[in-house]
Amino acid sequence: MKTNIVSTATGKANVSALFFVKKSVQFSNVLSENAEKQVESVLNGMEDGPFEDLELLEIDGQSTLFVNAAKERGLSSLDHLRMAAFRLAKKACKRQIPVVSIMLADAAPEQFKSILLGLHYADYKFDAYKSKQKEAFQVTFELVAGEHTAEFKKIAEEVAVENKAIVLAKNLINTSSSDLTPAEFVENANTIAKYTPGLSIKVRNMKQLEKEGFMGHVTVGKGSSHEPYMITLSYDGSKSSKKAAKNARTSADHLVFVGKGLTFDTGGLCLKPPKSMPEMISDMSGAATVLAAIQAIATLELPIKVSAVCCLAENAIGNKSVLPGDIFTAKNGKTVMVDNTDAEGRLVLSDGLAEAGLIGATHIVDLATLTGAMVRALGYAVAGFFSNDDALALNVINCGEACCEKFWSMPLEEEYADALKDHFADLKNTGSDAGAIAAALFLQEFVPEDTAWTHWDIAGTAFVNKAWKYTEYGATGFGVQTLIELARRMSSVASEDAANKDTDGEYVAVEA
Ligand code: BES
Ligand code: ZN
Ligand code: ZN
Repeated sequence: MKTNIVSTATGKANVSALFFVKKSVQFSNVLSENAEKQVESVLNGMEDGPFEDLELLEIDGQSTLFVNAAKERGLSSLDHLRMAAFRLAKKACKRQIPVVSIMLADAAPEQFKSILLGLHYADYKFDAYKSKQKEAFQVTFELVAGEHTAEFKKIAEEVAVENKAIVLAKNLINTSSSDLTPAEFVENANTIAKYTPGLSIKVRNMKQLEKEGFMGHVTVGKGSSHEPYMITLSYDGSKSSKKAAKNARTSADHLVFVGKGLTFDTGGLCLKPPKSMPEMISDMSGAATVLAAIQAIATLELPIKVSAVCCLAENAIGNKSVLPGDIFTAKNGKTVMVDNTDAEGRLVLSDGLAEAGLIGATHIVDLATLTGAMVRALGYAVAGFFSNDDALALNVINCGEACCEKFWSMPLEEEYADALKDHFADLKNTGSDAGAIAAALFLQEFVPEDTAWTHWDIAGTAFVNKAWKYTEYGATGFGVQTLIELARRMSSVASEDAANKDTDGEYVAVEA
C-alpha cells in the first residue's frame, strides 16, 4: 500500500471512495448536482436494500466505492472510520484497483488519522511461516486533503511511526516461542536500540539477575534451557529532544513501562491443559508492547523521560524447575511462596516494578497477559486495568478512548488482600477467587512507594482467536497506541505547565 496526500485530486485515480454515515456522505462537498441525486438513491438502497455496505458503482461517469462507516455495534465513530477504511483497502486490493482517491478535505485531524490507521491495518499480514508468500496487490491511496494538506502530511508521518510500532509488536507476538526465546527477544531489542537515536539499553542475564537479587526472573526462568533476561530501555526526551528545547520543558516526570515477557508459558509443573497452551506464544505481549511503544516515543521525540522494562523468561518444565511450595525473596525483600507455578507473570513483574523504582519512576504502567480470569470477565474487546492514582486512571481511560482501545477500571479490593498471605512466607502467588484482582493486589505489594501505578491485564485483548475489527487471527497490538498517547499527553501537559510559568520560573495565573 502507498498513500499520497495531495491538496486536490490528481485525476489519476481509477476509483473515488465516499465514506457515509446514516445516508449522509462525509468529507465531500464536491459532488455535481446529478451525482448528488445518484448518491442519494445509492444510500437509500444501502439502508433498505439491495446494496451491501461496500459497493463499487458508477456515479457521474466515475467509478465510486461507497463505504458505510456506521455499522458495527459498540464502536466509537472514530473506530467506525478505521473499520470502514480497513474494508475499503481490502476491497481495493481484492479488485486490484491501482489508485483510489479519498476526498478528505473536510475531515478533522483525528478522523484523518483513523482512516489512515484503517488502511495501514489492512496492509498487515503475518506469513513468515507460510511455505509460499503471496504478493499482495499494491494499491495507492490518494488522500485529497485540501487546505489541510500540510497538517495531514505531518499526521501521516506520525501515524507511520505508530504503525511501525504496532507491526513490530504484532510480529514479535505472532512468532513461535522456539524462534523467539528470551535471548532472541534481547537481540531484537538491541537492534531497535541501535537504530533508534536517543534510546539506550541495559540487559541483565541470569547471572546478573541472581547477583542483584531479581529472584522473580531466576525462580521462573531456571526450569528452562533458555535463560531469563531483564531489559531496561531508556529515552530522555525531557533534555535531548528538539521538542523539549522548543518547549523549555523541565518536568520531573519519569514514565516507566513494565512488560510481562514470558516467551512461552507451559504453566511449569502446574502444567496447563493442552487446549489453552498454543496461545501462550503471546505471553510476552506486554514486553513486546512496551518495546514497540518506547521505540515510537523516541522516534517521535516526545519531550518526556520514558523507560521500558521487559521481563523475559520461559516458564518450562526441567529438572531445575521451581517446585510448588518453594519460597524465594523478591527484590524488595518480601518473601514469596510459589503456590502455583502457572502464576509466574506476577513473579517476574515483581522484579520489573522494583527496577522501575530503582531508575526513579514517578509513573509506572505495567502490561501483562496476566490472568485467565480477566479473559472470562471482559473478553477480547476490553482490557481491565487497576490503578492506585485517580488522575493516572482517568488519563488511561481518556487516552484509550482516543486510540479506540477500551479500558475498564477494576478495583484493588482490599478485602481480598488477606488471601495473599502465606503461612511461612510473607505472600503467596495465588489469592482470592477473583483471580484478576488477586494478581493486581499481589503486584501492588511490589510497587515502589509514592509512585503512581497502573496495571493493565491484557490477557484477553492482546491476541484474538478469530478475525476481529481490523485484525486477523493473532496479535492485535493492543496497548501500543494508548502508551504512546499517554506519553504524548503527559509531555504536553508538562509543556503547557512550562509555558504558564513566568520568567522567574513561577507559575502565572492563566485565565480559564
Ligand atoms: N499467561 C497466563 C494467563 C493467560 C490466560 C493469558 C489466558 C492469556 C490467555 C498466566 O500466566 C496464568 O496462567 N495465570 C493463571 C493464574 C492462576 C494459576 C492463579 C490463570 O489465570 O489461570
Ligand atoms: Zn501462567
Ligand atoms: Zn503467563
